[in-house]
Amino acid sequence: MDKIEQLQQQVATAQLGGGQVRIDSQHKKGKLTARERLQLLLDEGSFEELGMLVRNRNKGITAEQEQFLGDGVVTGYGTINGRLVYVFSQDFTVYGGSLSEPHAEKICKVMDLAIENGAPVIGLNDSGGARIQEGVVSLGGYADIFYRNTKASGVIPQISAIMGPCAGGAVYSPAITDFIMMVEHSSYMFVTGPNVVKTVTHEEVTSEELGGAQTHASKSGVTHFACSNEIECIQYIKQLLSYIPQNCEDKAPMYPYTTGNESRKALNTLIPSNPNQPYDMKEVIEELVDAESFFEVHKDYAENIIVGFARIAGRSIGIVANQPAHLAGVLDIKASVKGARFTRFCDSFNIPLLVLVDVPGFLPGTDQEWNGIITNGAKLLYALCEATVPKLTLTTRKAYGGAYCVMNSKHIGADLNFAFPQAEIAVMGAKGAVEIIYKKEIDASPNPEERMNELVAEYTERFANPYLAAEKGYIDEVIVPDQARIKLIKGFAMLENKVVNMPRKKHGNIPL
Ligand code: COA
Repeated sequence: MDKIEQLQQQVATAQLGGGQVRIDSQHKKGKLTARERLQLLLDEGSFEELGMLVRNRNKGITAEQEQFLGDGVVTGYGTINGRLVYVFSQDFTVYGGSLSEPHAEKICKVMDLAIENGAPVIGLNDSGGARIQEGVVSLGGYADIFYRNTKASGVIPQISAIMGPCAGGAVYSPAITDFIMMVEHSSYMFVTGPNVVKTVTHEEVTSEELGGAQTHASKSGVTHFACSNEIECIQYIKQLLSYIPQNCEDKAPMYPYTTGNESRKALNTLIPSNPNQPYDMKEVIEELVDAESFFEVHKDYAENIIVGFARIAGRSIGIVANQPAHLAGVLDIKASVKGARFTRFCDSFNIPLLVLVDVPGFLPGTDQEWNGIITNGAKLLYALCEATVPKLTLTTRKAYGGAYCVMNSKHIGADLNFAFPQAEIAVMGAKGAVEIIYKKEIDASPNPEERMNELVAEYTERFANPYLAAEKGYIDEVIVPDQARIKLIKGFAMLENKVVNMPRKKHGNIPL
């Protein structure tokens, strides 16, 4: 056999991973192989593989391991819609995609290239965890990856798709990355599996209940997206990338847009006249952003706050919005953490922020206080204070108390603050305020209830409006709602070249 044929044979063998029988078994589970996934993810013909001929070194606790070319992970680079990305895709057909020393080295190599060359890294995870035969050598491999995930954080976008098992120490690489996507019914993530849980806590729980996509999308918030299948997961990755830049020095891609009639009449009637009546903030968002451009992140978690990407006149923005249709849009622990993490991603990667405010305040109660609403609420406050990207605020209705300050008020660095005429910006709601400041007067009144109602009406008239804040310049403009979109288009364009110089520091100390 000549040298070229020999090479071609090696390549053919490598491409079969753990062999046809195991590939068939992967397909029977409804899963694609590592290479099929990359084929769907990357532009046709763009994939360049690195380390295809890497083999296991038989280090560790057992004798001879069977050798497979590539050692359980396919790595390299390619393009998505013409933009460079680095990828690794774990191959479950080779030792269950488990992580050996060379497997880890291959991942580290593409991560190093991604950091040095300023392009996103995408990991497709499908792995039985540490290569048991290798013992601590494999654990060292994980730690090498975690270190690089942390080094890359805020430098290049990192996206993790979980398309099979991801358990034990393996979970901490995705956890450090910016976004996690999980495929429903074929992926799970947990630190310890159902058997260990049963032994330690006597709880009976399935893998799906403990760490499936729905669990992490709605209960823990570990995953940002639950995808119904692998194809959808790959589409989400591509969609997500369309809003974000290549690295922290870059700007997100601008989409062509021709300004037309930007008045949105529906906004004039979307906010109910009764301040206690809920409405769906997503309907407001749809009116404000370019048609079908809203891409929600963390959709099923802490639904009282909405976060996601969108485009305004072709420009990529991040939206953080209270959702009055869920728990009246109150800020609680989960909502604060969700909002803070998203804000920090946008700020790391030069994505301007739009904050939509309709918030009655922070959620009261022992549950919230004992679990640290103070520290956790401070995360959102800190993240918005710290963000130096263009920051616009639109108060659609309520902005009460400390939550007013937190939700991108002028005082914490918002560049432009707009309010609808229905806005109520005050220390607290009328009833609560009247009960405190007029307590004696109400008690002394011959008809306390009637007096109370009079005072509430008076307070509402005087304070529950945007004009006191506008008088002080805390609101730059009170706008007719149908003008909101054009105001935002102009505002973001005006702030295009914003530069803020912060005092020199190593890094801040966000209250964790
Ligand atoms: N190290 C080495 N080999 C592993 C492995 C690991 N961590 N996990 C799986 N494998 C191998 C299996 O031996 C099997 O090899 P084979 O193809 O030669 O038969 C192959 O991967 C597929 O595993 P299998 O158990 O048949 O697949 P499954 O879909 O039924 O189950 C897991 C998948 C991940 C649930 C199961 O393999 C498992 O529990 N693995 C161990 C997980 C673990 O404890 N990891 C270490 C701590 S992080």
